[in-house]
Amino acid sequence: VVAVLDFGGQYNQLIARRIRELGVYSELLPYNTAADELRKKPLKGVVFSGGPKSVFAEGAPTVDPAIFDLGVPILGICYGMQLIAKLFHAEVARGAVREYGRAHIDVAEDASPVFHQLPLRQQVWMSHSDVVTRVPSGFRLDAKTDSGAIAAMSAPERSLYAVQYHPEVHHSEYGTEMLRNFLFEICACHGDWTMDNLIEESIVHIRDQVGDKRVLVALSGGVDSSVAAALVHRAIGNQLTAVFVDHGLLRKGESERVMSTLGGQLGIDVVRVDARDRFLGKLAGVEDPERKRKIIGEEFIRVFEAESERLGPFDFLVQGTLYTDIVESGTHTAATIKSHHNVGGLPEDVQFQIIEPLKELFKDEVRRLGEQLGLPSELVWRQPFPGPGLAIRVIGEVTEDKLAIVRDSDAILREEVANAGLTREIWQYFTVLTSNRTVGVMGDERTYAHTLAIRAVVSQEGMTADFARVPWDVLARISTRIVNEVPGVNRVVYDITSKPPATIEWE
Ligand code: XMP
Repeated sequence: VVAVLDFGGQYNQLIARRIRELGVYSELLPYNTAADELRKKPLKGVVFSGGPKSVFAEGAPTVDPAIFDLGVPILGICYGMQLIAKLFHAEVARGAVREYGRAHIDVAEDASPVFHQLPLRQQVWMSHSDVVTRVPSGFRLDAKTDSGAIAAMSAPERSLYAVQYHPEVHHSEYGTEMLRNFLFEICACHGDWTMDNLIEESIVHIRDQVGDKRVLVALSGGVDSSVAAALVHRAIGNQLTAVFVDHGLLRKGESERVMSTLGGQLGIDVVRVDARDRFLGKLAGVEDPERKRKIIGEEFIRVFEAESERLGPFDFLVQGTLYTDIVESGTHTAATIKSHHNVGGLPEDVQFQIIEPLKELFKDEVRRLGEQLGLPSELVWRQPFPGPGLAIRVIGEVTEDKLAIVRDSDAILREEVANAGLTREIWQYFTVLTSNRTVGVMGDERTYAHTLAIRAVVSQEGMTADFARVPWDVLARISTRIVNEVPGVNRVVYDITSKPPATIEWE
């Protein structure tokens, strides 16, 4: 295993994931994990990740110094490099200019083996404000940026390597190759880890955790909860009970589809709970997006508790939480972007122990896992759908009328995207009912009705996204159909922002 110590950068899990893609098991651990903890693992290397803090800040996160005595190679990335520099008494200066985005580096001819066989001139992705201005004694300079800043340094005799740029991001041209060199040339990893290993490890872990206790899984009909359920089912069979909560915030036809396909295909008995009135009652009059998310998160748990009384008792609850949900809900080091319903939205007094078998994975990894588990491909390749459902696609207060507008327009959008053969190309697509009303003219009459937005994005894992370049004629057809077929809408707009700076959902 290669441990990635997490200093709170938004892209840190990507480092672990790139390493897994290279066939080496990797996990993200808190930055202050003790060296003794790491010693218990079959450890091949350690990565210090990026983070939002300055190494100068008071209480700036640092590592257990004994990690340097573990005898495994260490790679510092961004904050990780500055931390190594600081701990080895180099000069680190507060950058006068923040370096952000694409940059070019020149690699030294005699650079360390992490640059083995890579071009000496490379494009990289930078995102930092502090800079290392002089390498620590015993270290050598491996690469510089055009502005002369230190981009990479190493002390191979001590197995210490550091880069200022982000190799995990696609914009760093040879980032993956650099990581590959670190793993195979320096850490002597084998590269034989696969998704199958993950399935086996998870099964062992779940059996250990659960023993002979009973487990409840909440199905949303989405990819994540289905894969989580299938995995846990494979581990513990009929100790698992599946509940599908219809919270009234689902897309058109979803409830029926989940019951007919999921129940049958997963081979698990699925109990449908009609909680529509409960959720809509709790949401009445609420406009704030974070409040809506928290209410939904809490209400899910209350429903599970009620079902647990009826069908249980259950000691465990399975959730299909992904890494993306966790990092965006805010960790002790990462900033809160929005509270995903199953993480930041959870109430404090949950009576279940939570099992989250996917919490270290990204969406596309979960899809591969789902395929490996034999789930049907129309389920595995469904576009993501958030737990809070259409509630976060109605801006402001959620009412039945507004939900109907989103539901009907979403159905038209899905149909036209499918007709255009774009379902796999566009990562996620949906409609949003804005809180805006505008004037229109229909059949010589003045209208004053809702503005509906279409959101369609391409993405790898939802952490970053670009708006999809949907052909104009497809958009035109969608717009015409929505205005003609969905009462209450007289204007359709297309969202052309990427993430960042926007997020995918509007709330
Ligand atoms: P954002 O809006 O944060 O969304 O850019 C990233 C991805 O996560 C989905 N999403 C959620 N999924 N519970 C979920 O299960 C949530 O509370 C939630 N909020 C957003 C969103 O649809 C997108 O795919």
